[in-house]
Amino acid sequence: MSYASSSEWVEQLEREGELLRIREPSCVELVIAAAADQESKSEHGGKALLFERPIGADGREYAFPVFINGYGSARRMAMALGRIGVEEIGDEVGALVRAKPPAGVAEAWDLFKRGLELRHARPVAVGRGACQEVVHRVENGGEGLGQIPVLKTWPKDGGPFLTLPQVITEDPETQERNVGMYRIQVLGPWEAALHWQLHKVGARHGKKYREMGKPMPVAVALGGDPANAFAATAPLPDGIDEYMFAGFLRKKSVGFVPAVSQPIRVPADADFVIEGTVDPVGEPVNEGPFGDHTGFYTPMDRYPRLRVTAITHRKKAIYPATVVGKPPMEDFWLGSASVRILLPVLKMNFPELVDLALPAEGVFHNMAFVSLKKQYPYQAFKLMHGLWGAGQMMFTKIIVAVDAEVNVHHTSEVLFYLGANVDPERDMIFIKSPCDSLDHATSQPNVGSHVGIDATRKLAGEGYGRNWPEECRTTPEASARARDLLAAARRGRP
Ligand SMILES: Cc1cc2nc3c(=O)[nH]c(=O)nc-3n(C[C@H](O)[C@H](O)[C@H](O)COP(=O)(O)O)c2cc1C
Repeated sequence: MSYASSSEWVEQLEREGELLRIREPSCVELVIAAAADQESKSEHGGKALLFERPIGADGREYAFPVFINGYGSARRMAMALGRIGVEEIGDEVGALVRAKPPAGVAEAWDLFKRGLELRHARPVAVGRGACQEVVHRVENGGEGLGQIPVLKTWPKDGGPFLTLPQVITEDPETQERNVGMYRIQVLGPWEAALHWQLHKVGARHGKKYREMGKPMPVAVALGGDPANAFAATAPLPDGIDEYMFAGFLRKKSVGFVPAVSQPIRVPADADFVIEGTVDPVGEPVNEGPFGDHTGFYTPMDRYPRLRVTAITHRKKAIYPATVVGKPPMEDFWLGSASVRILLPVLKMNFPELVDLALPAEGVFHNMAFVSLKKQYPYQAFKLMHGLWGAGQMMFTKIIVAVDAEVNVHHTSEVLFYLGANVDPERDMIFIKSPCDSLDHATSQPNVGSHVGIDATRKLAGEGYGRNWPEECRTTPEASARARDLLAAARRGRP
């Protein structure tokens, strides 16, 4: 199922009882973010919120509503992709890569890419873009980015930030497109800072343009089918077009139109498109501070300046946003969906891998729990090294490995085995690795150490010279009888 527009998505949420409309004027500075923070932490992720009358700190009213927490529960995340559960998509991805078992990671991704192409997921050119119903060009002046109700989310943020952008760039040599979700700080009506971190594809494209001395065209899409923004967050390898992935997810190709002021194509269904360039010789600008996924402020740093050349939008555009901070928040559901959908690709390469979870407390990269079927000594360590070598898994600071029957989505169960099965000196490995740019704990930015903890039961070949004890479990019969007795007592019957 696909959505023709953000409005269609919002209407569907309302029909399903998943939307709360806020009709009171609500300030884009701190207030909308605080409401979204509270709602995302309520039971089952609360509701999606539509703020119909966003206002500035000076009381001025914006022409566009703010939509937030749309992906913020398991149900809404699946609805965004037109499914009952995201596991359905994981099964479809599994079927794609199982067609011809790959010999390695690169081959698995290649198979995945060819599978997407066969599913007619390729983006297509369309005649007209609803995203261009209204066009504002820099040469005509005007409010520029100031007309969009961009949120300031935390008190010490350096300014307002776009937090759900689809940042579109192309490789200057191959013309391969990349779409990444990189936050954008608004610096002025026609100026912004692009926070693509060192390891991301947008940064790699930027470096190439700089080396070639060519201005870099950039387009930033906001809204449209919710599959588009989700795809921008997915940790796909370089070379797989996120909009092709979105086409696969929504079972319909994403339609494209040429941007109005830059040589780049943009999704026709977007609510807003911001077009501009990054100057190859221009100085980077100060970006931040920003209250981040980590729950801490990321300090100010230098990032490329985007000079905006045009802003286009639907007549009835909706501005989509998210708030990041201490978990659980909307981004947890985005990250979990990526894991569920892409796990089959990882499994093709690591046959022992049973399941993987990124617990909310680990804010994406701090922690991963993996379960495995161990056949030989040190296999848990072998799996950890493999995972650290797999794309953005390289950022995972702490990997805890448990046996196949442990539910990795149940943090307290994992912590039980972490406590019970680990002899720390024997069962931990430390490695040096690139680290997430947001990690404030490392002594230097972008580099540090990771730890792998093997909490599986130990084999003789792993230095364990004793008999591993059996876990206490009652019989199924006793358990069933006990359940009946307790249920009857609760109903008040003998
Ligand atoms: C809400 C949200 C905000 C994000 N903000 C940033 C950001 O500011 N900079 C960044 O490099 N990655 C950010 N990410 C992570 C990237 O979107 C993610 O790593 C993505 O896979 C990058 O795409 P790429 O591999 O094409 O570069 C964010 C993710 C989410 C869910």
